[in-house]
Amino acid sequence: MSTAKKEYKRITVKTLVDMKANGEKISMLTAYDYTMAKIVDGAGVDVILVGDSASNVMAGHETTLPITLDQMIYHASSVIRAINRALVVVDLPFGSYQSDPKEALRSAIRIMKESGGHAVKMEGGKEIKESIKRILNAGIPVMGHLGLTPQSIYKFGTYTVRAKEEQEAMDLIEDAKMLERIGCFGIVLEKIPAKLAKEVAESVSIPIIGIGAGRDVDGQVLVLHDMLGMTHEFHPRFLRRYMNLYEDMTTAITQYVSDVKAVDFPNGNEQY
Ligand code: KIV
Repeated sequence: MSTAKKEYKRITVKTLVDMKANGEKISMLTAYDYTMAKIVDGAGVDVILVGDSASNVMAGHETTLPITLDQMIYHASSVIRAINRALVVVDLPFGSYQSDPKEALRSAIRIMKESGGHAVKMEGGKEIKESIKRILNAGIPVMGHLGLTPQSIYKFGTYTVRAKEEQEAMDLIEDAKMLERIGCFGIVLEKIPAKLAKEVAESVSIPIIGIGAGRDVDGQVLVLHDMLGMTHEFHPRFLRRYMNLYEDMTTAITQYVSDVKAVDFPNGNEQY
């Protein structure tokens, strides 16, 4: 297994499969707008996920359920305008693919045509198999999402670790193999035991991207606003905060307010 880092000009779904085969870990972060996506892409992140976590992070909803297909398209098209290198994966939002395969395909086509995204992500296993197949048959790359699936939060009732029981773990492995068999190019595994995630990653040749799934998978994803420390009420064990932007931004904005009140801003050089 080579650890040498290859330079990729543009990341495609094939690049990701090659990266797994070469033992190169895949970096993935969310972004929902042009400015952030430009920074994330410029910093060399391989995959940008326009996640339906935009529902929480951007719109302040408690769950991912309220975000609409139109809103996802708006976020994704803003991200696409910023990108030079990363692969952009767009979440199909709740309600846009669960009812039947035809509707699922219509939703995926809208994402691809109207946002310019490169692939879609869908939560679930065998229960949405026909919808995934329909989308794949239209030439649209699909990433699966297993384990904790936030669009089903009301079914599970909590955001705790999934697949701790043997039956659920076996079902998850079966779903992962099925997603690979029908042609998905990768799978996000959210909040499951690290040992199980490792077993899944070893059982399939498509990349497994973990969030709260340990280190023995093929790549990692985090929500950008969480890893930058912009959100500060969310403390899952898996989250590493690389900055404390909530405090830094509060300090800067407080200083601005104080400067305006004291007529210290603008000064002589900051006017015409
Ligand atoms: O919507 C999202 O941000 C996601 C990640 C948590 C994987 O699906």
